[in-house]
Amino acid sequence: MGLFKSVTRELPEIRPVPRHVAIIMDGNGRWAKKRFLPRIAGHSKGVETVRTLVAAAIEQGIEYLTLFAFSSENWRRPVEEVTLLMQLFVSALKNEVVKLKKNGVRLRVIGDLSRFAPELQGLIRDAEAATAENTRLHLTVAANYGGRWDIVNAMNQLAQEKPEAAGQWTDADLEPYLSMAYAPEPDLFIRTGGEERISNFLLWQLAYTEFYFTETLWPEFNAKSLEAAILSYRRRERRFGRTSEQLMEKPAEKPEQTEEKSC
Ligand code: IPE
Ligand code: IPE
Ligand code: MG
Repeated sequence: MGLFKSVTRELPEIRPVPRHVAIIMDGNGRWAKKRFLPRIAGHSKGVETVRTLVAAAIEQGIEYLTLFAFSSENWRRPVEEVTLLMQLFVSALKNEVVKLKKNGVRLRVIGDLSRFAPELQGLIRDAEAATAENTRLHLTVAANYGGRWDIVNAMNQLAQEKPEAAGQWTDADLEPYLSMAYAPEPDLFIRTGGEERISNFLLWQLAYTEFYFTETLWPEFNAKSLEAAILSYRRRERRFGRTSEQLMEKPAEKPEQTEEKSC
C-alpha cells in the first residue's frame, strides 16, 4: 500500500489539474421531483452521471475520484428509498465492473460495509478484486460512510496495534488506519445540488481541500461542469498556512508530494 504525506504537514506540489477530486453527489431527489418522477428515477439518472464523470475524470488526468454515494445518516430515509438505492447499487456493480476493468479504473468502496446484505458485500469484494491491478483512475465510492466513523475506526485500530504509545500518538500515527490511506488528500471538493455543507463526508482528509459548491443537480452535472470546477480550482491560491508573499518568493518550490512505499 502506498502512503502519502499529509498536505497539512508537508507542502505539496501544486498542479493545474487536481490530483484527487472528492464529490458529494447531491440533488437526485429534487431532479426527479421537478419532473414529477419518483425519487429513485433521480438516483438512476445519477448513476448515468457517475459513468460520464468517470470518463471525464480520466480525460482531465485526475488520478483519484471519490464519490459519496450513501452516508451513514442516509439509513434515516424511507425504507422503500433505501431498499431501491441498495438494488441500484447491486445492479450498478453488476453492470459496470467489466467496463471499469477495461478502462483501467480501480474501484474501492469505503465505509462500514458490514451493514449491507451479504450479496452486496460479495459484489463489492469481487469488483475490488477484479479491478485491483488498474492504476489509470482510482475510483472510490463511499457507502455507509461517515467521516466520524472513519476517524473513530482508525483510532480503535491504532489503540489495538500501538497501545504502548497511547498519549503520544500523532496524526501521522493515525493516518495509515484511515479508510483512504491509499490516496493523497483531496485537492478539490465538489458538492452539487446547492447545499453548502460537508454532511459527515471526509472530515479528516478535507483539512486543506479547496471547496466548490454548485447549484447544478447531480443528474445534470457533466464533463463541462467538471471543467468549470477545475477552472475555479486553478484560480485559487493554496497557501497552506503561508502568506501570499512567501508564495511569490518561492514560485518553484521543490515538489514534495512523492509517494512513499510503506510495503
Ligand atoms: C443524493 O441525492 C443521493 C443520495 C443521498 C443517495 P438526494 O437524494 O439527497 O437528492 P435531494 O437532496 O433530495 O435532491
Ligand atoms: C449526503 O447527501 C450524502 C450523499 C450524497 C450520499 P444528503 O442529501 O443525504 O445530505 P444532507 O443530509 O441533506 O446533508
Ligand atoms: Mg440531498
